Amino acid sequence: MCGIVAYVGNKPAQNILMQGLRRLEYRGYDSAGILVVTKNKKLKRVRSVGNVDELQKKLKNQKLAGAIGIAHTRWATHGGVTEKNAHPHFGQQGTVALAHNGIIENYQYLKQKYLANHKFKSETDTEVLAHLIEKFHAKLSLKKSVEKTLGLIGGTYGLVVISAKEPDKIMVARSGSPLAIGLGKNQNIIASDATPILPHTRKIIYLDDGEYAEITAEECQIYRLGTKGEIDKKAQKIDWTMEQAQKAGFEHFMLKEIHDQPIVIMDAVRGRLRPKEGSARMGGFNMTDLQAQKIKQITLLACGTANYACMVGKYLFERLAQIPTNAEIGSEFRYRNPVIDNKTLVFSVSQSGETLDTLVSQREAKRKGARVRGIVNVVGSTIAREADGGTYIHAGPELSVASSKAFTNMLMILTLYAVYFGRLRKMSFETGSKIIKEIQKLPGKVNQILEQAQAIKKAAKNYAGYKNMLFLGRGINYPIALEGSHKLKELSYIHSEAYPAGEMKHGANALLDPKFPVVAIATKNNLYEKMISNLEEVKARKSPILAVATKGDKKIQQLTQDVIYVPKTIEILEPVLNVIPFQLLAYYSACELKRNVDQPRNLAKSVTVE
Ligand code: AGP
Repeated sequence: MCGIVAYVGNKPAQNILMQGLRRLEYRGYDSAGILVVTKNKKLKRVRSVGNVDELQKKLKNQKLAGAIGIAHTRWATHGGVTEKNAHPHFGQQGTVALAHNGIIENYQYLKQKYLANHKFKSETDTEVLAHLIEKFHAKLSLKKSVEKTLGLIGGTYGLVVISAKEPDKIMVARSGSPLAIGLGKNQNIIASDATPILPHTRKIIYLDDGEYAEITAEECQIYRLGTKGEIDKKAQKIDWTMEQAQKAGFEHFMLKEIHDQPIVIMDAVRGRLRPKEGSARMGGFNMTDLQAQKIKQITLLACGTANYACMVGKYLFERLAQIPTNAEIGSEFRYRNPVIDNKTLVFSVSQSGETLDTLVSQREAKRKGARVRGIVNVVGSTIAREADGGTYIHAGPELSVASSKAFTNMLMILTLYAVYFGRLRKMSFETGSKIIKEIQKLPGKVNQILEQAQAIKKAAKNYAGYKNMLFLGRGINYPIALEGSHKLKELSYIHSEAYPAGEMKHGANALLDPKFPVVAIATKNNLYEKMISNLEEVKARKSPILAVATKGDKKIQQLTQDVIYVPKTIEILEPVLNVIPFQLLAYYSACELKRNVDQPRNLAKSVTVE
């Protein structure tokens, strides 16, 4: 996720773009850049590593005079955090420049096919687009060059493009990454969200996927890929405050991040699925198939929510690849004498990539000769840098202290690795293919759960008054019960515990009474009947039950007070769906109890101390 802002009008562009970048900084702050078309039609660019303040410092001694320009604040995906990789990027001749948010999946192919003799200055996927558009623009108008390029791109983009040859306009395009156009008087401003636009105008057009536009100070013409002629799109009047706009209209970052999940799940798997092989492949893994086949055990290192993702990972690696796997808590692992060697593959799993206990454990594992790889969200973070390779989960910036979308994307990457290892061992092509097909259906299914947010809010109201709660799961869903309980605790401060349901009769049944509600995952998998028996026992002790069940399951209603239905998927992917109701339950419980949702008491987003 990155932030884009562009301006064309009758005012100095520099200030407007810089103010816009500040409002978009939450979308990424690895580097920032600004480009303005000067009066003598030159494209003048300034970039800097770090946040917008760093860029501002660089601009102190050089003014970019002009009334049209583009700017970008980066969340690195392809290519490290360097000035060379900062946007905007130029084409080979420096006559076209653009800023991009998203991932161009086929950039290598585009490079080889169309730009074989081109020299690139960055390691980004984006620079390829600038070269391509500029190449077509030698003979075609900017609009036609952009159209032609969009027809070749695979992946996601929010794009703003500028040309020294047509210096009065900006071309913009969207597919998968948001773009809004603010319509002003003799000025138009484009941005990744409404916040940079609102100080200038409240008339906003949100582009939909497949739409692109040609924008001058006076005009905004919108088109749709594959159809001829301008399309008629009405502007909306936006009454949001600045903060509401940054949260895309959601009340909290937490709620926004929960709703980001269908999109970020796609970002996690994009370019990594290999349908023809019934497998998956992660670019930064840095291990040959032969080396991977020799791995004898896997250790997953993490803390908190990331650890619960790893517990699911253990189940996946053992079930799909038959590799003995341990999910280890960082703060414990570092003080033990763990049995690992050079046939052990260690994955350090972390949203921030800075969690001290995970980092120190990773160092310990390296010291013992293990092969260490990161599964990390924040690009360039310490864990990512110190690992010998790994995979970014591409969840985008997660600002709410309580993790949601990063958890889901950790599950996605662990699943891809398990499929990869499985296919190197005994898993059949058919099984691999089936998993891939089901993975591709997940975003739509997550959306179906999000559509029930109001029903979950109602359930949260019923349960927020209780002092204690118990989460139950079995098999691959036990870690999801733990994560549900963890989310509820940290967001609402309601005490809760999680148990594997079959373990209840060994002690925890003593807790059950009408004041002790049970939240259970009872989806239709191979342990469904066992879970139903467990819930019969709970019902007999008069504890209220809230169940997460598979769509269409009527039987469950005889046992429970409340049911949240999730679509059917294969068992190994159930955690991705089943966690969503728990995130919403915890979120709405916290709202009901008027907690500080995005910054719960006593917690920090990144725990860099012991
Ligand atoms: C998640 O909701 C928590 N805030 C916390 O448990 C978190 O998952 C943990 O501190 C690990 O953080 P990391 O993923 O950044 O390493």
